[in-house]
Amino acid sequence: MPIGRPWAGLPCAFAAMAALVLFSVSLAAQQDQESEQTQQAQQTQQQLPPGYAGSDVCLGCHDDLGKAFTRNPHHLVETGKAKTKTNWQGMACESCHGPGAKHAETVSPSDIINPAKQTAAKASQSCLACHLNNPIHAGWARSSHNKNQTPCTSCHAIHKGQEALRPARFMEINKLCASCHTSVWAQFAKPYKHRLDVGAMSCTDCHNPHGTFLPGSVRTVAANERACYKCHPDKTGPFPFPHAPVQLEGCGTCHEPHGSANPRMLTRSEVRFVCLECHSNITAGKTIGGVPPAFHDIRSPRFQNCTICHTKIHGSYVDPGLER
Ligand code: HEC
Ligand code: HEC
Ligand code: HEC
Ligand code: HEC
Ligand code: HEC
Ligand code: HEC
Ligand code: HEC
Ligand code: HEC
Ligand code: HEC
Ligand code: HEC
Repeated sequence: MPIGRPWAGLPCAFAAMAALVLFSVSLAAQQDQESEQTQQAQQTQQQLPPGYAGSDVCLGCHDDLGKAFTRNPHHLVETGKAKTKTNWQGMACESCHGPGAKHAETVSPSDIINPAKQTAAKASQSCLACHLNNPIHAGWARSSHNKNQTPCTSCHAIHKGQEALRPARFMEINKLCASCHTSVWAQFAKPYKHRLDVGAMSCTDCHNPHGTFLPGSVRTVAANERACYKCHPDKTGPFPFPHAPVQLEGCGTCHEPHGSANPRMLTRSEVRFVCLECHSNITAGKTIGGVPPAFHDIRSPRFQNCTICHTKIHGSYVDPGLER
């Protein structure tokens, strides 16, 4: 046994452990209990794959991160309680930063992975190694965040506390999104809007920032209904007598869901102008929705407020003419 020799590097340490284990195995018959305990201790050490240092070593120098990390949900990785494909018990730091034994010796930043300095695709990939199976991320590959160099870490800061890791309060989420989407945020200052500006709801009520199969990463709820369904089920149907554009083209055909200068967040200043885009005898022949019957005198004020009679404009349970 070469005990007592000054060991310099980890590989030597590994060799020593291997030797120790072999040694104790050979003597197992004689030195029963005592040797078993040593063996167990050696094996926990041995589980560190080559090149890895273990979180305890990291925290020897980065102790400022240590206390906060015990409250981080990723601490489950450290304790081995997380349901991940690979067991990272005792090595949580390196599950994201890669093997760190060399860096622990040289303390050079170039010997350790800092996700903040990686390409967007690489940074996201390392997160997805564990997070891919969450259904909320199923649309990530086709999301425009993924396609436009906006990695996970642009919205999730790992070491800055829970609210920075996973923004949960509406106002925090809105601020985060607004920091890049300034022109969208400005739409919520218009006279008719969803009240995100006061934190009554958030962007993620309607969008999944991780991507969806709908255009604009619009969130789906319940049985793959559009996000609007959650709060406006009476407008989304399904109806026995639907109004075709509501079902086919979606709410955005007639509404500006972020905010609008027009009442009811409509795309036009008056209801009839919305209708006449598709139901006009001027465009007869190539009209989309069919021309109103002749008794509709569009110039008469009586017929200008279409929804006075066609009250069930989003669809009706009883009337194909959408009046009841
Ligand atoms: C012996 C002390 C020491 C140990 C052990 C150590 N580090 Fe460091 N680490 C440093 C120092 C010093 C810096 C700052 C280097 C600089 O800014 O020039 C640093 C920087 C870093 C950085 C930032 C690199 C960058 O690009 O800015 C990361 C990430 C990091 N360490 C992770 C780890 C991890 C993970 C471990 C454990 C595997 C670890 N460190 C172990 C001393 C250490
Ligand atoms: C879930 C992934 C993950 C885990 C686990 C993790 N880090 Fe980090 N770490 C990051 C990311 C991402 C960054 C880049 C900065 C950011 O986005 O917050 C970072 C940055 C750092 C930095 C650079 C300091 C800075 O503020 O820029 C150091 C040092 C560091 N981590 C050390 C550690 C140590 C030590 C552990 C273990 C206790 C650890 N990390 C665990 C993902 C992780
Ligand atoms: C080694 C596996 C692993 C890696 C790598 C990893 N995570 Fe996690 N992450 C977990 C586990 C485990 C949890 C806690 C359990 C859960 O919520 O699923 C978690 C939780 C989270 C949460 C939710 C926190 C909450 O309060 O709900 C966020 C956000 C998150 N991780 C982001 C990231 C980001 C960003 C990266 C890449 C920088 C990353 N994770 C890398 C395993 C991992
Ligand atoms: C554009 C910003 C943004 C990007 C990019 C982003 N996220 Fe998120 N993520 C959020 C927000 C906001 C939430 C809170 C969700 C909510 O309120 O519905 C969240 C929630 C989460 C959660 C908790 C999910 C749950 O079940 O509650 C995890 C885990 C997570 N993100 C991981 C990731 C990973 C991994 C990536 C990269 C592949 C990523 N995120 C990219 C903004 C983002
Ligand atoms: C770091 C900057 C950044 C942050 C933060 C950010 N985004 Fe984005 N987002 C982008 C970029 C870049 C694009 C692609 C170009 C564009 O459409 O503006 C994009 C596109 C989008 C799109 C268009 C989707 C599509 O498929 O057409 C939606 C919706 C979106 N983001 C929602 C959000 C939400 C919700 C949040 C907050 C949780 C958020 N974004 C936070 C940068 C960001
Ligand atoms: C009431 C629901 C709702 C809310 C809240 C909402 N959006 Fe949207 N957003 C939509 C719909 C619907 C679309 C159109 C999607 C399509 O069909 O292309 C859209 C489109 C977008 C687009 C792509 C088109 C464009 O206008 O540039 C971006 C980016 C976007 N939203 C970002 C945000 C951000 C950032 C927030 C929060 C500040 C937010 N949205 C809040 C419903 C919403
Ligand atoms: C989280 C719940 C929620 C979601 C999701 C939601 N809305 Fe709303 N919506 C509201 C609330 C609350 C109001 C009342 C407006 C206010 O705050 O004064 C409203 C108002 C409206 C109005 C205007 C009503 C009026 O009388 O001026 C329209 C139009 C509208 N929503 C359309 C949509 C569309 C389209 C979607 C999907 C893209 C959607 N909403 C998603 C909660 C929601
Ligand atoms: C064909 C155009 C059109 C489409 C498509 C449409 N709406 Fe409307 N919506 C209107 C009109 C017009 C009004 C105003 C009705 C009035 O004059 O009272 C309105 C009013 C509303 C109101 C507020 C009025 C109320 O009765 O509470 C909400 C909320 C609303 N729509 C939600 C939606 C949702 C959600 C969708 C998608 C499922 C949608 N709309 C699709 C035309 C449309
Ligand atoms: C984006 C185009 C579009 C807009 C805007 C639109 N409609 Fe329609 N509408 C249609 C289509 C398409 C049909 C189905 C026509 C068919 O089945 O032949 C329809 C059907 C109808 C019907 C039932 C009659 C029928 O032929 O089945 C009425 C009534 C009606 N629309 C009224 C309105 C009113 C009132 C407005 C304004 C609030 C409006 N529409 C806005 C496209 C539109
Ligand atoms: C005074 C009540 C009233 C007003 C206002 C009104 N309509 Fe009508 N509309 C009717 C009636 C009644 C019918 C016939 C319904 C039927 O045949 O079942 C009808 C039928 C229609 C149809 C064809 C329905 C079909 O079954 O073929 C369309 C399209 C239509 N209206 C569009 C409009 C538009 C667009 C406006 C506003 C410019 C408008 N209406 C205003 C009462 C009205």
